[in-house]
Amino acid sequence: MKIRRNSIFTCYEVDEVDSTNTYLKNHYQEFGDDSVLIAKRQTAGRGRFERTWLSDNDLCFSILFKSPHQNAMIAPLAVVMALEKFDISSGIKWPNDVYVSGEKICGILIEDLYENEFQASIVGIGINQTNKPSVEGVGVASFKEISNNELLDQVLHFYEEILNWNLKKLKDEYLKHSLIIGKTITYHDISFQAMDVQLDGSLVLKNSSGIQVIRADEIHLAKEQIV
Ligand code: BTN
Repeated sequence: MKIRRNSIFTCYEVDEVDSTNTYLKNHYQEFGDDSVLIAKRQTAGRGRFERTWLSDNDLCFSILFKSPHQNAMIAPLAVVMALEKFDISSGIKWPNDVYVSGEKICGILIEDLYENEFQASIVGIGINQTNKPSVEGVGVASFKEISNNELLDQVLHFYEEILNWNLKKLKDEYLKHSLIIGKTITYHDISFQAMDVQLDGSLVLKNSSGIQVIRADEIHLAKEQIV
């Protein structure tokens, strides 16, 4: 295992693991706050809603935090800002997928661990390097030649920067890059307009009958809802 420091983060790099999220979940007591596990290959990468995450030479890593942060907003924003640094313009499809040119380029799986009280958060980030027609999504290589290491460094750089922002700035910047605000969303067969995203990541919907607040694990938005 290769170990290196990247400002506040301690990065551990392995060739192969089942899933960087699963590994940190099972071994979080052995790692310090702000540890990052990076894998060249995942044999059982996981996505949201129990889906499989396929990666082939893609950037796959998970960050372990031992204190709570607004990761649902920080993580996609750090990816958007990192891509911007390479002149790739992207947006956030609620709750935290990152899209480029109408296609998903990055998925994020956040898992919070509790044992009576909060123990840790694991923020898993997968950024496509090549196109993924089988699971929808474009890759960074379609736009620029950027190595996984360069990309990782930028994401960690912006993650650290955003951790220091106040909550108002965080929310304002997240909403600025959101692809969903103002869009019509169908929830339980009823049409709403997406109005706001709260700091815990919940989506606020409105229609003539009133307001509905939904959590990220309650609904999977089709790609068509944001394009
Ligand atoms: C999604 O879009 O459903 C979330 C995908 C998250 C994939 C990343 S890759 C690194 C980390 N390890 C995993 O097993 N999953 C996350």
